[in-house]
Amino acid sequence: MASRIRIKGRKKIQGAISVGGAKNAALAIIPATLLAGDKCILENVPQITDVLTFQNILREMGASVQQTADNTFEIDTTEVTQWQAVSESMNSFRASYYVLGVLLARFKRAKAVLPGGCNIGLRPIDQHIKGFEALGGKVKIEHGTISVEAEKLTGNTIYLDVVSVGATINIMFAAAGAEGTTVIENAAREPEVVDVANFLNGIGVRVRGAGTATIRITGTEFRRGVTHPVIPDRIEAGTWLAMAVATNSDITVHNVIPVHLEAVIAKLKEMGAKVAEGEDYVRVISNGNLRSVDLKTFPYPGLPTDLQSQMMIALLHANGVSTIIENIFNNRFRCVPELQRMGVNVKVDGNMAIIDGPKRLSGSVVYATDLRCAAALIIAGLCAEGETTIENIFHLDRGYEKVVKKLRALGADIVRETYDELNDQMTIID
Ligand code: EPZ
Repeated sequence: MASRIRIKGRKKIQGAISVGGAKNAALAIIPATLLAGDKCILENVPQITDVLTFQNILREMGASVQQTADNTFEIDTTEVTQWQAVSESMNSFRASYYVLGVLLARFKRAKAVLPGGCNIGLRPIDQHIKGFEALGGKVKIEHGTISVEAEKLTGNTIYLDVVSVGATINIMFAAAGAEGTTVIENAAREPEVVDVANFLNGIGVRVRGAGTATIRITGTEFRRGVTHPVIPDRIEAGTWLAMAVATNSDITVHNVIPVHLEAVIAKLKEMGAKVAEGEDYVRVISNGNLRSVDLKTFPYPGLPTDLQSQMMIALLHANGVSTIIENIFNNRFRCVPELQRMGVNVKVDGNMAIIDGPKRLSGSVVYATDLRCAAALIIAGLCAEGETTIENIFHLDRGYEKVVKKLRALGADIVRETYDELNDQMTIID
């Protein structure tokens, strides 16, 4: 059934909004429970489709996955003997590839369907393969699956040719099953990498240096279950900060780690927004007189590529010409044609977008192309004259929980409808 969101724009929004657990940490820690071979309790797990999909994949592999409270799951992988993850759902998201590192560490062999994920450009896995092979793995890709086998895994030094969150985490997983110490150089420094490392240290793997460009992992035999709270989602938090600026609102975002948001906070201040930071909240007040700025996406601690589309909507409301340079993915301006349906023309030239503001958006029917574009179109709908209908909302559900409820609590005029094509029936669901 198709799901869409309808927004009547330019309603005043203000107040407080709370952020859920980090999608990109949870999607790595869930498969990492396979390394524990014991019962783990994960808290602050976001209720999003990719998480639910991964939990079902673990169940199919023989793990017990029980929800024990809102956003809390008990995952017991003691009985898992399955070293293959070949269900179709594996190619519905990118993070499924993490099963390779954990199964290789635990069983010295792994087989998985190649990953899917947002269509935002070329997303090779050559650095993951480079890491597995450096540890002694033999990799084979055929019929849409990837297999890795190793007589034994031996620690090694791996220099990543490109800073990759996925490859850093996947190599950490494989190294957990290797004899001796593995050193990952030019590692990703994202907070989600640190959260995964904290989980690994909790179950008995020895990881040092996470959060820096050099991470050392020492495989150990000893394992135990652990209770681990997932860190707050800095990208969800940044989405709401950009929304506050785009809509000239006073919004306080709770349950955040402000230091994770330094780059985006600095950019919003540069635009002229007022930003106050507390221990676990950030408040943004925007009065509409915004300055144009130049923005470049970089690996952490730079401005995250996952906030690029959302920041574009804020820049549409700034006075003058702003530019965005997308340095991470080669096709991440796919939201721009949808903005053209809303009456604005953002020029794209290679990896640069040129935004001439301020522009008034007009409500339209638009089509989300990926997770972060869906979030950006919601912000655009809140700013636009008239009604905006955002189709393909399944993209949003992959990474954001309870969006309609959260935004309605701020005063937004927003509903979600499900359209049953078979019976030609529309139902408002939240
Ligand atoms: C993770 O994707 C996130 N996804 C992405 O978030 C995020 O945009 C990205 O990191 C960058 O921060 C998850 O964690 C599930 P990368 P990942 O490997 O690991 C190139 C979202 O919206 N590369 O850090 O796939 C790659 O093409 C999603 O939540 C190689 O060349 O990203 C890209 O240009 C979208 N070879 C750059 O590195 C490889 O083997 C960074 O990619 C791996 C990556």
